This record gives sequence, C-alpha cells and structure tokens, in this order.
Amino acid sequence: MSNILDQLQIRRDEARLGGGAKRIEAQHNKGKLTARERLELLLDPDSFEEFDMFVKHRSVDFGMDKSHFPGDGVVTGWGTINGRKTFVYAQDFTVFGGSLSKTHAQKICKVQEMAIKNRSPIIGLNDSGGARIQEGVEALAGYTDVFQNNILASGVVPQISVIMGPSAGGAVYSPALTDFIFMVRDSSYMFLTGPDVLKTVTNEIVTAEELGGAKTHTTKSSVADGAFDNDLETLSEIRRLFDFLPLNNRTGSPVRKFYDKHDRIDESLDTIVPENPNIPYDMHELVEKIADEGDFFEIQRDFAKNILCGFIRLEGQTVGVVANQPMVLAGCLDSDASRKAARHVRFCDAFDIPILTLVDVPGFLPGTSQEFGGSIKHGAKLLYAFGEATVPKVTVITRKAYGGAYCVMAPKHLRGDINYAWPTAQIAVMGAKGAVEILHRSDLSDNDKIDKHINDYEKKFLSPFRAAELGYIDEVIQPHSTRKRVNRAFALLKDKELKNPWKKHGNLPL
Ligand code: HXC
Repeated sequence: MSNILDQLQIRRDEARLGGGAKRIEAQHNKGKLTARERLELLLDPDSFEEFDMFVKHRSVDFGMDKSHFPGDGVVTGWGTINGRKTFVYAQDFTVFGGSLSKTHAQKICKVQEMAIKNRSPIIGLNDSGGARIQEGVEALAGYTDVFQNNILASGVVPQISVIMGPSAGGAVYSPALTDFIFMVRDSSYMFLTGPDVLKTVTNEIVTAEELGGAKTHTTKSSVADGAFDNDLETLSEIRRLFDFLPLNNRTGSPVRKFYDKHDRIDESLDTIVPENPNIPYDMHELVEKIADEGDFFEIQRDFAKNILCGFIRLEGQTVGVVANQPMVLAGCLDSDASRKAARHVRFCDAFDIPILTLVDVPGFLPGTSQEFGGSIKHGAKLLYAFGEATVPKVTVITRKAYGGAYCVMAPKHLRGDINYAWPTAQIAVMGAKGAVEILHRSDLSDNDKIDKHINDYEKKFLSPFRAAELGYIDEVIQPHSTRKRVNRAFALLKDKELKNPWKKHGNLPL
C-alpha cells in the first residue's frame, strides 16, 4: 500500500517539475515565475485543486513519442480568490515553450466548460510559443475549440486573460475573445505575426517589444486593458480586479464590507469646477471622492484618456464608472473613447453591474481623421451600449453636456434612471460662441452685439435649469452631496426590473 502511495507522490513531484530544473532556472532568469508559482500567488493559500496533472500529448511525429512531460505544458484546475471560486489555467513555458497541443487544448477546454457549468469566472495565464509545431492541424483544432468555448462563456462568466510571456499567432485570439487582457511589462508580447515575418513580408524592422509589448497594446492598439511591472504586481492586481466582479451573469454585482460614510459630504467638490469653462479639472478626483475609500480600479487607463472607465464600490457594491475627462481633449468624445466606453458599459450590463456616468463633454471631436476613421459608427457603439443597458443607471452632469454627446452620455432619453446635474451644468446644443456665430451671422462684425448675444444665450441655455424644467434632469444637486445622492439613487434602484424586447441578438454597430 505504502508503495502505491509513494508512487503517487513520485508522479506528482515529477509533474510539478514541469520541463525540469534547468528550464525553470531559465524562466526565472527572464524575470518570470513558473506556471505553478504564478497560481500560488493568484489564488488563496492551499486553495488550488489541480486537474489532469498526468495528461500527456499523443503525437508521435518528429520524435515526440519519446518526449513527454506530465501535464503537457499547462496547469489547470480551480481555487479561490478571497474565498470566491474561480477556474484557472496557466501555461508552462518550461514544457515545449508552453505550446498548445491537442491535449493541452483539451485541458483548457475542460476548465472552460466547468466554468460555464458551475457559473464561475475563468482566468488564463498565458505564456506560450503558440501552436505546437510538431502537431500541425491537431493544434489548430485545439485552438479553435478553446475559441468556441470563449465565445460560449462570453457574457455568462467573467473571463480574464493575463499575458505573462509570448502570445503569438493563434494564441492571441483566445485572450482577445475574453473580457479583460492584462500584460506584464517587458516580459510579455502579443502579435499575430512576429518581427521576422514582418521583415520578410513588409520590410518593416521592429522589435517584439515595439510590435506587441505592453506599451503598444495599452497605449496604441488598446488590445490590453492594463499592464503592470512584474508577475507579482500583475497577479495581485488581478486579485484586486476579481474582487470587483460578480461570479456570473446571475449573481449580481458583489457587495462587501465598506469603511466609508455612506453620506460623506465633500466640500471641496463645490469648487472643483473652475469658473472659466475652458479650464479643465481632473475627473479622477471626482471619481475617487465619490467611491468607497477612494478605491478606483481603472480599465484602459493609458488609452483614450479623454474618458475614464473602471470600477468603484458604493456602499460596498461594485459600480461601473464611465466619466469624461476634461483634462484630455477637453473631454471630447472621439472614436477611441466611444469604443472604450461602449465595451465597458456592455461588460457591466452583461454582468448586472450598475453604471455611474459622470458627464463633462463639449461634444464629439471634429475633424477629417475622426470622420474618415468612422467616428459615426464608433459613437453609435456607445449610444447603443447605454441604450441597451438595463442595469441601474445614474448620471451626474457636472459641467458641459453639449449636442450629440449629451444624447450619448446616459441621458434620461436612453433610459437613465436617475439623472442629476450640478448647478454648474451647461446642457445645450453647443457652446455659446458657436451658437451665436450661427444664429447671428449678420452681427458678426459688431463685437458688442455678439457679446450681448453670447450673454443672452449663456443665461438661457448654459445652465441645468432648462433641462430640469423639462424633467430631463431629476434634480439639481449640491456638488458636495454627490456621494450621498448617488448612493441613495443606487439604493433606490436595487430592485429595478427592465427587460428589452425579445430578440436573438441585436446588431451592435461593429
Ligand atoms: C513547439 C516550441 C514552440 C512551438 C517554442 N517551442 N515554441 N515547441 N511548438 N510553437 C519550444 C522551443 O523549441 C524550445 O524547446 C522551447 O520551447 C523554448 O523556446 P525558445 O525558442 O528556446 O525560447 P525563447 O528564446 O524564449 O523564444 C520563445 C519564442 C520562440 C519567441 C516563443 O520559441 C518562438 O518563436 N517559437 C515559435 C513561435 C511560433 O511561430 N509559433 C507558432 C505560431 S502559429 P527546447 O527543447 O529547445 O528547449 C500559430 C497558429 C495558430 O500559433 C493559429 C490558430 C488559429
């Protein structure tokens, strides 16, 4: 008996060694942890339960029949993060470069299917040279099985991808189908075709880092939602994000203990909006002053900085935030900002996370590059997302809400539930100067007349009161009481019920 038990231990020890001590050392020398070390940091101590530890690949070509590592390059199973369960997989670069064989894919598919069935999130730690070259189409089939499961899981359970090494070729598409992608700076990269192929095909000379490193994907392509300095920081931030997320699309957004006064008054908000409408202020400050304990997990912080997206808690409950940022492009909406925010709104709605929208937007960014880049379609994405969302929606207009941008930013007319404005709000078709130049073209040569027209227009339209008189704004609130008012609004909306008409699915302007 003891012999059999010993045998199990020996086989487990062998599997835990992955590709062997030398390859583990090479992994460490690159500043990277091994798959198992990463899972230990991601999950609560002793919570990891591994599946398929002894699975081996079945390929025989290119001498593969003589080369086997138990587990076949991916560690899979489940565990908990602060006591809440999640399925996980971590690719093991020490085994065939973490490359994906048919059996490696089957292991991932198993945890994906369990995640869907058991309604728990799935987190994938990616570190892979792509399709196992020795397997050919078997590996491609494996990848596509993983993609299909990503698609089925979308909107059912949160899916998070962490890129912690190479992710090349087909390996990029599974992460791209998930809800969030985070990368590790300087040790991870993602691209469809690598620098060598680029050189041959397009004559472009570029490093892997330039082509697909964390900076590229968080600032230029927006493929990644965030990046952190090393494995340790990345995994601890994933734990932080996980705490904000519901386990599935039915449990609703999580509520946890909070250590902040629900009716905290913040006098500094009464003066946060400068008197001169052309002077910006930092919308981060407002978000943090509203949030429980000032905690804001920002998504896509380095891309389309003219809009802020992320998660906060209000009275312990997760709330998604979308907020114009007057510090960048004066808070104008452009194609990138619209896409970024639309995706966030749709994630929140899919997972029943209420949405707080903070508005200070002078309009859509004009220009040929915007128009040629399809800003009409991109803006429509955000319009569609807000209009489709049935979760509780609370909107606060702090300053400008002009033109089409007013229509897009979760107004009453897109089924906003509670729409507040600060006394500093200006809700109008456009700014006073622009309006007067169109309405009083014949007076343009007379400065006094123009000043008077501007003054009249400002008095009449650049306030929240016209909208409030029409019932488009439920209440004009004191800025210092924003946290209290927003908390009360979400408390009121806790049992909100709203259903869209039945359809197979809508046709989002992609
Ligand atoms: C099999 C692989 C592998 C792969 C790496 N290895 N990638 N084995 N299939 N795809 C093996 C290496 O042979 C090596 O084995 C070990 O993993 C470590 O690799 P190194 O090259 O020594 O590591 P490093 O120098 O860090 O380079 C990492 C790398 C490089 C940049 C990822 O290995 C690489 O370019 N690999 C190939 C990438 C690629 O073209 N993949 C196919 C993409 S096409 P030994 O035994 O020597 O240690 C694709 C199509 C899918 O994925 C489409 C689906 C829709």
